[in-house]
Amino acid sequence: MINLAGKYPYEYDVIVVGSGIAGLFAAIKAARFARVCLLTKDALYNTNTWLAQGGIAAALGIDDSPEKHMEDTISAGGGLCNLEAVKVMVEEGPGCIKELLELGMPFDRVDGRLAMTREGAHSSNRIVHAGGDATGQVLHETLKKNLFANRAIVVREHTFVTDMVTCEGQVIGVRTLAGETYRAGAVVLATGGLGWVFSCTTNPEVATGDGVVMAYRAGAEVVDMEFIQFHPTVFRSPQEEIILISEAVRGEGAVLRNCHGERFMDEYHEMAELGPRDVVARAIVDQMKKNGSKYVYLDVTLRDPVFLKKRFPTIYGFTLKYGLDLARDWLPVIPAAHYAMGGVRTGLHGETNLDGLYACGEVACNGVHGANRLASNSLLEGLVFAGRVVERIEKTGKRLPGSLHQTCTTDYGEKILPLKPAYRRELGDELRTIMFSKAGILRDEKGLLTVQRFLQQHAPLLEAVPEDRSTWELKNLFVVANLIVNSALMRTESRGSHYRVDYPQPDEAWRLRHLCQSVKRYAAH
Ligand code: SIN
Repeated sequence: MINLAGKYPYEYDVIVVGSGIAGLFAAIKAARFARVCLLTKDALYNTNTWLAQGGIAAALGIDDSPEKHMEDTISAGGGLCNLEAVKVMVEEGPGCIKELLELGMPFDRVDGRLAMTREGAHSSNRIVHAGGDATGQVLHETLKKNLFANRAIVVREHTFVTDMVTCEGQVIGVRTLAGETYRAGAVVLATGGLGWVFSCTTNPEVATGDGVVMAYRAGAEVVDMEFIQFHPTVFRSPQEEIILISEAVRGEGAVLRNCHGERFMDEYHEMAELGPRDVVARAIVDQMKKNGSKYVYLDVTLRDPVFLKKRFPTIYGFTLKYGLDLARDWLPVIPAAHYAMGGVRTGLHGETNLDGLYACGEVACNGVHGANRLASNSLLEGLVFAGRVVERIEKTGKRLPGSLHQTCTTDYGEKILPLKPAYRRELGDELRTIMFSKAGILRDEKGLLTVQRFLQQHAPLLEAVPEDRSTWELKNLFVVANLIVNSALMRTESRGSHYRVDYPQPDEAWRLRHLCQSVKRYAAH
């Protein structure tokens, strides 16, 4: 152990890592009783939250109830949801929406009441939204205003956290790429997702799974990593720019058509275009394969142009740049990696198996999404569980330990020189392509073993300690890929978003079993 006594000036009560909905909400709430430092690796806005279009699901309608919301969440989750976690989320969700309104969130309204739309696998209209399809952007701006207005919060953008700092088994801070140590009584991981490990994704380039990896390296348990949600409809421009086409477009009546112009979703699910995401994504792949086409079409031309421009200004404007008018043209769409249901294993207050470490938002897995997340439950989950993390921290009132013996996993690795940018990009592209084609929407043993061999060839990268951010991110992507592929190989059944062509049915023996990985062990329980 290295004694670092007295060398580090950055001490707070709570450190939050990440600046999506969970990170911002946790920081704002914790600042009511604590000195908070929020660290984020890029600009504050560069998150999946900012890109969110659809909205936030909550049982607010007169014909709706938390019970109905719970039923829909569980049914989408393929038998793997943690029922207690779902109950907490659906019951506390409406209160969180009220808190957002108090923080100044300008949700869209109709005749003075909150406007509510429907998305896939919801039995009621329960998605609140803002700026039409710019919910994430408006939400982020609202939380950002509250964050910067609060003098108890220090915000450090462009600060890449590489590691947890631990002391006698307790997480007491984090280490940054610049070599600084930030210490605190509680560390809240809210680093978001890992979609960048796939070549076709709705996620921004920053979604490299850093949080899952640093927690895993420090000894945290990571669970359900095989469950990756693929969003059925994204538009990819000729320049390979990708934009999500919100499920809310289908919620407002859009239909899917194959390359012959025929509707096909009725053949795959009773809820047709509004079936669960995994079913719709696989149906699209099936149609593309059968017809030898590169995409299918989304057709919302039955809706009035004035309505479409007001309801979906982001999508409308983006696709128009490429000569497609939502009100007149069918949009070519494909599925893309969107959301990780698995992550750092937590309890109902975001607590992990490491004392002092909490996780919330996409980086965490409290079991609320099971094997497949219900649309628009992710922003809600971020809010509800960020709030509960803060409640727990306030109650337990952890302080930094008196002893100053602290260590972190990267203290012992061998440094590597920065990889040449061209090689790093090539390696990253290779990884992302093989992950999408062999560990993506359709998986089988042969393909997964091919990915595993590729990962093994590059194992030395995992042992090294990078000296620059891009190499760190690449290393983290390789660890994430390993975690996903290990679990996907092991789960010899199909459930929710995890579809094994060689085991196409759910297997009762796997129901309720979660694959948990940690540096110390690998277990199914
Ligand atoms: C969408 O707008 O379709 C995405 C919403 C979500 O993933 O929850």
